[in-house]
Amino acid sequence: MEKNIAVIRGDGIGPEIVNEAIKVLDKIAEMYGHTFHYTDVYMGGCAIDRFGDPLPESELKKCAESDSVLLGAVGGNQWNDMPGHLRPEKGLLRLRAGLGLYSNNRPAKIWPQLAEASPLKQSIVDKGIDFIIVRELIGGIYFGEHKTEIIDGENTAIDMLTYNEKEIERIGRIGFETAQKRNKKLCSVEKSNVLDSSRLWKKVMHRLAEEYPDVTLTDMLVDNCAMQIVRNPAQFDVIVTENMFGDILSDEASMITGSIGMIPSSSLGAGSCGLYEPIHGSAPDIAGQNLANPIGTILSAAMMLRYSFDMPKEADAIEQAVSAYLSAGYRTADIMSEGMQQVGCKECGDYIVACLCQKEETA
Ligand code: IPM
Ligand code: MG
Repeated sequence: MEKNIAVIRGDGIGPEIVNEAIKVLDKIAEMYGHTFHYTDVYMGGCAIDRFGDPLPESELKKCAESDSVLLGAVGGNQWNDMPGHLRPEKGLLRLRAGLGLYSNNRPAKIWPQLAEASPLKQSIVDKGIDFIIVRELIGGIYFGEHKTEIIDGENTAIDMLTYNEKEIERIGRIGFETAQKRNKKLCSVEKSNVLDSSRLWKKVMHRLAEEYPDVTLTDMLVDNCAMQIVRNPAQFDVIVTENMFGDILSDEASMITGSIGMIPSSSLGAGSCGLYEPIHGSAPDIAGQNLANPIGTILSAAMMLRYSFDMPKEADAIEQAVSAYLSAGYRTADIMSEGMQQVGCKECGDYIVACLCQKEETA
């Protein structure tokens, strides 16, 4: 197959982790007879420096015309004082909205080789951690009106949180469908004891539940959910939640699996063009030092093959190569532990490619 991939290296550690993912994709192309064409796209801080805009229309267009988008990370301290509409993160939000990617899928799964890297007690980890957070991605407080003005003589900031039924229903359906493909347990997370938007959320989820009788729906308040994720993560199969709750809970969920550097994500909308990115940020403090963990990005590339290109065998091969790399005892600094061999970002990519080669030889 021939596929066009828009590649956004972005800022901070973005370029180094994306380079490793491309190494892996190139090896897959060679092994399975595919051709991947890469188009560079500038988004985030690097686009502000280049064009004075975190995502110019021309760059968004390149993404919309591609078969999928692979993204490293955006943001950095030098752009922190920019006005809200000119921050690197605004480019990411515009990209998500511009491509209509309302459904963000963030797996939290512990690799057996990394059980010790989890900050949770062994007895909790042993019960298993394997759930998915389905996060609504282009609505809610992220996309409501933001303004700061003088009200009653006080400088006042306003961020609007809005959801309509249609927006809730379409992400709710993804939650139910994801659960149907797994252990058929869906937990809808909201703050219905305080927020109107959450009360509507809960109502829509229960209406939808009638259409998915094979799925068991439960409700959980977001503050309780934050607690349950560390108390008993084994209880979760699929969590569906709104944009900001999903942002916060997915960082928490990643941490209990050992490192945020390991977690990939997919963002999809109505079509097959998706956005694939690790869930971590641009980590400017370690950028350019060959210290970053590229696995979140490499696994994001695997998700791209699985969900947008319908290449499950190829995706499996990448995931198995990551597992073989971990079993061989290699670790980047973020997941380093005693007795393991520490490697840099580049070496991590090389070893994962080498694990793919071994698979090729034994096939
Ligand atoms: C994420 C990030 C983004 C978000 C930021 C960079 C805007 O934290 O993908 O989780 O809040 O969605
Ligand atoms: Mg986040």
